[in-house]
Amino acid sequence: MRNTWLEINLDNIKYNLQRARELIGPKIKIAAVLKANAYGHGSVYTAKALIEEGIDMLAVACLSEAIELRREYTNIPILIMGFTEDEHLRIAAQKNITLTIFSLEQAKLLSDIGKEINKNIKIHIKVNTGMNRIGFRANKETINTIEEIHSFGNIIIEGIFSHLALKNADTDREQFEIFMEIVKKLESRGIFIELKHICDGIGMVYYPDYRLDMVRIGSFIYGGQTLKKEAEPLRLAMTFKTKISQVKEIEKGEGVGYDYDFVAPDKCIVGTLPVGYADGYMRCLTGKGEVIVRGKRASVIGKICMDQLMIDLTNIPEAKPGDEAILLGGYPGPSIPLAELAEKANTNKNEILSIISRRVPRIYTEDHKNVAQVDYLLD
Ligand SMILES: Cc1ncc(COP(=O)(O)O)c(C=O)c1O
Repeated sequence: MRNTWLEINLDNIKYNLQRARELIGPKIKIAAVLKANAYGHGSVYTAKALIEEGIDMLAVACLSEAIELRREYTNIPILIMGFTEDEHLRIAAQKNITLTIFSLEQAKLLSDIGKEINKNIKIHIKVNTGMNRIGFRANKETINTIEEIHSFGNIIIEGIFSHLALKNADTDREQFEIFMEIVKKLESRGIFIELKHICDGIGMVYYPDYRLDMVRIGSFIYGGQTLKKEAEPLRLAMTFKTKISQVKEIEKGEGVGYDYDFVAPDKCIVGTLPVGYADGYMRCLTGKGEVIVRGKRASVIGKICMDQLMIDLTNIPEAKPGDEAILLGGYPGPSIPLAELAEKANTNKNEILSIISRRVPRIYTEDHKNVAQVDYLLD
């Protein structure tokens, strides 16, 4: 129904997961971070590929993301890494969704819910070691509080975790040490927690000593993470594509787009693409973005509109309406690297991936064949 779409290569997702497994060995668990619709890739089919490949756990930011996955996959552990409101704890518990807890009151409430519904509810305790986002403060009072939570019935402290700010190796080490101090103090009181985790994908690669019992990786799985120079690169799973809707010749001095932001310095050929910032092709790429048409690069010209943008096809006169244009990715052929778009948009790579909107259908490929398709507006 739409000539702008995302191709998601599930083989690449599986390959990247295998690479993580090779890196950390068979004993450490891997939680795949599937928040924000699996960083734009579509969480349901991404999860399917990862489950087939033996992922240990899925991790999301909020309850609705967890429920979306639980509807499809009844057995896989799902961890909500963010905050869940008191009034939603019961739903999460009923659906066997593991909660992140960082208050005594919520733990008590959850324990009461557990008693009522006759279940042992799994939780992971979040400790704030520096980011000051969510989590218990790392102090003596917290040790006492966790000990108290540990004594509550119907909840199981399956995990304890923190998150690295990744400012530099020194501050990351400080955070790790603060975290391990909490773990040690708990252990000295006889509280041994099965899953201790602090590393995201970057932590996993750069700090082998911090991998503990589990790593939580997102960008690595989607092939967005840059590895050390000597390592074989990961494989970007996503290719963002569209098709030229119109080609026209304009005269020197004619404008293109809102405010006539681009004025033709000479006769030129303009192609229009049916994709805009509402699809997730950021408006700040105006005057900077490039796309691939017939294997060559064409510059984005004029202000990027909500649903359309224009490109300069003067150097690709053979281009026709209906030709594909690659906005991101495109490997192994001519491609637009994720890092390039992120740099031009002055943001990080994850934002580029995760803001691709619901209006863009996702087509899943495996072994060079289309295996599934999702159109969030029509399905
Ligand atoms: C708590 C937590 N863990 C893990 C991750 C995964 O991070 P990355 O994509 O860098 O691997 C995130 C993502 O921001 C996160 O918020």
